[in-house]
Amino acid sequence: MGAATYRAPLEQGVTNPYAHLRQYVVSSTLGRDVDPAVTVVPGDPLALVRELKREQGSGSDIWLCGGGKLAGALLPEIDELVVKHYPVVAGAGIPAFDGAFDPTLFDVAERTAFPNGVTLTHLTRR
Ligand SMILES: NC(=O)c1ccc[n+]([C@@H]2O[C@H](COP(=O)([O-])OP(=O)(O)OC[C@H]3O[C@@H](n4cnc5c(N)ncnc54)[C@H](OP(=O)(O)O)[C@@H]3O)[C@@H](O)[C@H]2O)c1
Repeated sequence: MGAATYRAPLEQGVTNPYAHLRQYVVSSTLGRDVDPAVTVVPGDPLALVRELKREQGSGSDIWLCGGGKLAGALLPEIDELVVKHYPVVAGAGIPAFDGAFDPTLFDVAERTAFPNGVTLTHLTRR
């Protein structure tokens, strides 16, 4: 999680939002002792993900919770995307990938369309 994503549960008093997972929050401002189950990483998130990939091999997945700033920084290490589309035009918002202009190709692996107009798409990096 990026720090802004983590602050949403934190403001509700929830310090351990994904208790079934090992959790890392990338933040240079958050205290490291926020919760014993949460590791606060003040440094380079790309180095963190590369280290986790080395440690875990191909057996375990790493879930990037968000948000857009962290996703933009981690784009070189993102192998799969799971994208939900809703039939709503919302206007301005937070970018899903906030970073430099850098077109990165993915292929659609699976897409499920629901009767209410929602689609769920799994994509893999080309
Ligand atoms: N729709 C979804 O599935 C979904 C999922 C997750 C989040 N969200 C939403 O996304 C919003 C938050 O996204 P966001 O883009 O504003 O922030 P974010 O990516 O969650 O967090 C950004 C913060 O993380 C820290 N950080 C440290 N190093 C970083 C680096 N190299 N790259 C990026 N961040 C770094 C910084 O905090 P410090 O100043 O502490 O260093 C930075 O301000 C929230 O509204 C949340 O609800 C939506």
